Amino acid sequence: MWDYYVCKICINDDISSVQPSFAYFSCYHLCLLVVLALFHSCLSNQNSHHVLCIDAERQALLEFKHALIDETKQLASWVAGDKECCTWAGIGCDNSTGHVHRVHLPGLDGHCHSQNYYDTENEYEEASKQRLKGDISSSLLDLKQLKHLDLRCNDFGGIKVPKFIGSFQNLRYLNLSKSNFGGIIPPQLGNLSELHVLSLGSFHHTVMNIQWLSSLGMLHHLDMSGVDLSKATDWLQVINTLPSLVQLYLSSCELSNIHPCVPGLNLTSLSLLDLSFNNFHSFVPEWLFSITSLVSLDLTWCHFHGRVPSGIHSFRNLTSLELLHVAKNDFMNSTLVLKELSGSSLVSLDISSCGVSSLHLDTLRNLTSLISLEL
Ligand SMILES: *[C@@H]1O[C@H](CO)[C@@H](O)[C@H](O)[C@H]1NC(C)=O
Ligand SMILES: *[C@@H]1O[C@H](CO)[C@@H](O)[C@H](O)[C@H]1NC(C)=O
Ligand SMILES: *[C@@H]1O[C@H](CO)[C@@H](O)[C@H](O)[C@H]1NC(C)=O
Ligand SMILES: *[C@@H]1O[C@H](CO)[C@@H](O)[C@H](O)[C@H]1NC(C)=O
Ligand SMILES: *[C@@H]1O[C@H](CO)[C@@H](O)[C@H](O)[C@H]1NC(C)=O
Ligand SMILES: *[C@@H]1O[C@H](CO)[C@@H](O)[C@H](O)[C@H]1NC(C)=O
Ligand SMILES: *[C@@H]1O[C@H](CO)[C@@H](O)[C@H](O)[C@H]1NC(C)=O
Repeated sequence: MWDYYVCKICINDDISSVQPSFAYFSCYHLCLLVVLALFHSCLSNQNSHHVLCIDAERQALLEFKHALIDETKQLASWVAGDKECCTWAGIGCDNSTGHVHRVHLPGLDGHCHSQNYYDTENEYEEASKQRLKGDISSSLLDLKQLKHLDLRCNDFGGIKVPKFIGSFQNLRYLNLSKSNFGGIIPPQLGNLSELHVLSLGSFHHTVMNIQWLSSLGMLHHLDMSGVDLSKATDWLQVINTLPSLVQLYLSSCELSNIHPCVPGLNLTSLSLLDLSFNNFHSFVPEWLFSITSLVSLDLTWCHFHGRVPSGIHSFRNLTSLELLHVAKNDFMNSTLVLKELSGSSLVSLDISSCGVSSLHLDTLRNLTSLISLEL
């Protein structure tokens, strides 16, 4: 097109035919100008959101790094000469205030596995190098606006969870799962009144008392799987003071007592309950069937026995249930219970090692949403 008009100007002496070509040129230039202007305004817009990080917070991060052992140089971008700590690996800042609000440093990209996942000793050792080790410096406390702290899948060599973590007043998300912490979980965590997510799964603590949990009124997601709660005999009363809970993971917690009735059950938002691998050796508690919001219920290896209470408390009441895993319990071995399930929209059902007779399986024919069935 452009060539065409240029040629036209050159070969045509007639003024009237030149005019439209000039019009085309000015239009072309105008367009170019508009594009440049937009591009420029885009850039300057970006700059106006670009805030340098706060110097005290930058220093705090450098101290935090100093106390860590980082074999694979994950924190190579954290250097003293760089003023812009908001762009450092794992760091997120509030783009209007410049405060660090996110420290996201999961080991192994958050995919931690036990040693037997790896084919060779060598592979396991290589993977272990990708986990941060060392100490957690209390310099982190200078991050006054911290909302998100994720240190999962690292290897802190059995040290205690630092008490000072309870002082982050704005913390909403805390994941310390599978990071090889030991000792007692500090009750100071009960000061984290803004916390929505608390994940303390799979490490060796001895927990005497979890009373402090009841101060966490905003908690949606609680994972204490693998934490020894055998001495916390009031665990259910404590959990019942958390009305916002949506997901509760208490798998392998050495729990043995569970109250059959809980007057005034608060857990009305609970959608996922995982109590697998605990040794209850008791009747299935009635209150389970009044949590009508349940979508996923895992009671694998809980050793519940006896009859599921029938009548007003039954699986029929759990109308949202999609996953039911109850392997290794012997309360499922009656047609009555299976009939109660037959009207549900279960997607995944595990009734292996439940002593269910093949004569009763016909009852499951109506479970048309089922995708996974373990017998
Ligand atoms: C901060 O950045 C996020 C994502 O880039 C954006 O959605 C948000 O509007 C920004 N906030 C301010 C105050 O600039
Ligand atoms: C916390 O970390 C564990 C371990 O990687 C992970 O399985 C879990 O999903 C995380 N929890 C949340 C709420 O992100
Ligand atoms: C934090 O928790 C501890 C122990 O539960 C308590 O003694 C202390 O007063 C709390 N601090 C704040 C600021 O709430
Ligand atoms: C239900 O939760 C509220 C708020 O935490 C608490 O005050 C109340 O005592 C709880 N009810 C029971 C029966 O624990
Ligand atoms: C269970 O559902 C029945 C009606 O199907 C109802 O009468 C009963 O009150 C419900 N029980 C609970 C604990 O919600
Ligand atoms: C269900 O299992 C229990 C315990 O093994 C047993 O006592 C009961 O007779 C069984 N019920 C049926 C209907 O098979
Ligand atoms: C399965 O559904 C059919 C038709 O809806 C019904 O007649 C039958 O009673 C149901 N079977 C069970 C075990 O619920």
